[in-house]
Amino acid sequence: MSKKTPPSTMLLILLSLSICSLSFSQSNSLSLSFPLSLSKKTSSISPFYPSLYSKTSSSGSFKLPVKYSTALVVSLPIGTPPQPTDLVLDTGSQLSWIQCHNKVKRKLAKPKTASFDPSLSSSFSLLPCNHPICKPRIPDFTLPTSCDQNRLCHYSYFYADGTLAEGNLVREKFTISNSLTTPPVILGCAQASTENRGILGMNTGRLSFISQAKISKFSYCVPSRTGSNPTGLFYLGDNPNSSKFKYVTMLTFPKSQRSPNLDPLAYTLPMKGIKIAGKRLNISPAVFKPDPSGSGQTMIDSGSDLTYLADEAYEKVKEEIVRLVGPKMKKGYEFAAVADMCFNAVETAEVGRRIGDMSFEFENGVEILVAKGEGILTEVEKGVKCVGIGRSGRLGIGSNIIGTVHQQNMWVEYDLTNRRIGFGGAECSRLK
Ligand SMILES: *[C@@H]1O[C@H](CO)[C@@H](O)[C@H](O)[C@H]1NC(C)=O
Repeated sequence: MSKKTPPSTMLLILLSLSICSLSFSQSNSLSLSFPLSLSKKTSSISPFYPSLYSKTSSSGSFKLPVKYSTALVVSLPIGTPPQPTDLVLDTGSQLSWIQCHNKVKRKLAKPKTASFDPSLSSSFSLLPCNHPICKPRIPDFTLPTSCDQNRLCHYSYFYADGTLAEGNLVREKFTISNSLTTPPVILGCAQASTENRGILGMNTGRLSFISQAKISKFSYCVPSRTGSNPTGLFYLGDNPNSSKFKYVTMLTFPKSQRSPNLDPLAYTLPMKGIKIAGKRLNISPAVFKPDPSGSGQTMIDSGSDLTYLADEAYEKVKEEIVRLVGPKMKKGYEFAAVADMCFNAVETAEVGRRIGDMSFEFENGVEILVAKGEGILTEVEKGVKCVGIGRSGRLGIGSNIIGTVHQQNMWVEYDLTNRRIGFGGAECSRLK
């Protein structure tokens, strides 16, 4: 392992890799579905905010007060033979991570069925230091890496709460169906972590899972959080109902336009405005568009629980909520230092009725319609519900993020080939 790979072998590996991916990408009628579960967490700050981490780190701030309470989790078969491994679906980050635990040696620890044991896989390999991605700073990928004493590529960094994440960069195959195995995908293999779930990085970057696996589109349907069966569906490849979806074209950013506050690898939507109870709020559309510094970008993100709005938009939403239900708001209450439009749960039926529907409007009449009630008011702690919107300024960022709280009961399709995002109504927990 510690021996240097001779250049000729390296070339062969690269060659066989590209041949392998070529034949894989020719299967262009891919359509595979997996159950998508909601995982709720109420205690302990999670070290996993990959998307928020990447956004805040790019603006130099590491202030992350928010706990995620709901994550989308999909179990994918990884390795040879395949081990079902739980991964948080994150369209806001690039690199995927698996939790590497040696199950055989850890008899005493409680079994971590959701994690991955590298020693049981014949297709697992560690990335050597001389791999091109193992450079301290390559342009579109800024994970701090170093060379460990075994000449393997090592990464480590601290999350906002002081949690250390570290491990090796590795390569491993995903067996997404009996007849379909991806080429080896570069992943982080976390050895020191308190989490037992990995991350499926799904942004538009070349190292995201979707890019490395050369899959041109994916979609998910987030079930209602309050339902008795919070299981939705995740598709890799074509969605059988996509003919009914409405699409908006993503904004993309050439290299020359890139600026410090912009996340060029995110799924950026052309948002136009916000409506509450049929009334379009008086927010300048410029608030939802990146300015020359990159602030104002509007992204859709499966790794963010709440929706976040830049201050100007947040203020206008709050003004309208105060106008509609001001006297019922919990005075002085703030959830996680970002959301302050909150109510006692006993009041929420009436509050929900008075607020009515809310919608996020995009180009060409496409919108995300959040029906009154549960979709608008989300439980943040026992007995308290808030409008699921936070101030992005409190995270040290100037962007707008549509979180999963506003993606319930609909299909969201990410079509990378055509650079567009599709939406379609669905009852997600009823799908099979
Ligand atoms: C597709 O739409 C039909 C009719 O609306 C519905 O019964 C079916 O469950 C949907 N399937 C998926 C995968 O969305």
